[in-house]
Amino acid sequence: MNRERNTLEPHMTQVAAPAPDYQSGFGNEHASEALPGALPAGQNSPQKAPYGLYAEQLSGTAFTAPRHANRRSWLYRIRPAAVHKPFALLKDGAFHNRFDEQPATPSPLRWNPFPLPVKPTDFVDGLFTIAGNGSAATQSGIGVYVYVANHSMQGRFFYDADGELLIVPQQGRLRLATELGVLEVAPLEIAVIPRGIRFRVELPDGHARGYLGENFGAPLRLPELGPIGSNSLANARDFLYPIADYEDVEGKFGLLAKFQGRLWSAEIGHSPLDVVAWHGNHAPYKYDLTRFNAIGSISYDHPDPSIFTVLTSQSDTPGTANMDFVIFPPRWLVAEHSFRPPWFHRNVASEFMGLIAGVYDAKEGGKSGGFVPGGASLHNCMSGHGPDAASYEKAVAADTTKPQHVTDTMAFMFETRHVIHPTQQAIEAQELQSDYWQCWQGIRKHFDPYKK
Ligand SMILES: [Fe+2]
Repeated sequence: MNRERNTLEPHMTQVAAPAPDYQSGFGNEHASEALPGALPAGQNSPQKAPYGLYAEQLSGTAFTAPRHANRRSWLYRIRPAAVHKPFALLKDGAFHNRFDEQPATPSPLRWNPFPLPVKPTDFVDGLFTIAGNGSAATQSGIGVYVYVANHSMQGRFFYDADGELLIVPQQGRLRLATELGVLEVAPLEIAVIPRGIRFRVELPDGHARGYLGENFGAPLRLPELGPIGSNSLANARDFLYPIADYEDVEGKFGLLAKFQGRLWSAEIGHSPLDVVAWHGNHAPYKYDLTRFNAIGSISYDHPDPSIFTVLTSQSDTPGTANMDFVIFPPRWLVAEHSFRPPWFHRNVASEFMGLIAGVYDAKEGGKSGGFVPGGASLHNCMSGHGPDAASYEKAVAADTTKPQHVTDTMAFMFETRHVIHPTQQAIEAQELQSDYWQCWQGIRKHFDPYKK
């Protein structure tokens, strides 16, 4: 099933590239070789690896992490990852981890979609930090970004030592050429690139926009299912991992590293995507959000939104996530005599939301552009929020003896135990809606002490 070796210049691989093959199963001990016999049999580090390759272990968790949480892979590559020139610090741009630039506001915030760039911009240059919490240094917290791009990365590669990257495309496909192989993701799919994996982002559609969550904490994993049983939510078999696919290319390239919140660059004389074979469970993967098996109420009320968790990064406190990735997919609403949209609430956790497609069922009205695909909102710890006035009126007038099919929607949330601090540039962005607060001002008083 492996594709032929690719000896094209890195930036040329996007031209008529075949659809990649995958291996499936969340967290499996995957194994793949692009040349027959490249994967050593029976041991990880033979005295001489096949084909003159170098063996290298890539650990995403502590060596001694419990077996169920341990993530590591063995890579068999043309040159070890250490072969490059020294890193030099790049000047800070819009992609950074300065989460202490200003006091975090308790006001709900909402942004219009960020426009596609006019100047040639690749994935890394198109990253814009909206908010974040914690730090890479403490391996706790998250970074929240949007990306806009109109050029494939050419002659340079990127890795993130600070955390794993959860990529949520909203417009345009991404072809992620990684050390461990190629993932192609489209809107309504996600990709996760673990800490340290080097990759290049190509744009098959010539443009792309989306969201990015950077998880400084424990690697994302599937949530426990408890009394739900052994199936549903995101099923493990639907997670797809790449097959080995190497580049044997020499030239003058750049290796970008995100390290302790800053961007660094080193010269490298070859493509670092030179892994001919690998095995292990520290590997990039993709998932089709439309395969999510949504669970909900079939009697009354609806469960907490944690029922829609796709992936979770556990903190040291049981049941309290460093980060949850939650979606609001198309689904049937059948709860009787119940308020069916997401209810009004305040939450100890903090919530960053984005809309990938369609309409979110708690924000159908609103001024200043509303909550539209490509936009974003932030509701911090204990900040009251919920359906806007128009959505509330519609929900209380609905006939709840009939099922309702919510279609044309895919919203998501990065939920985290720590307050999410917006950056200075996000507060000053012209996309920030100054009148978001008004979406709740039209909520009327219905109270009448003489009418139960
Ligand atoms: Fe909420």
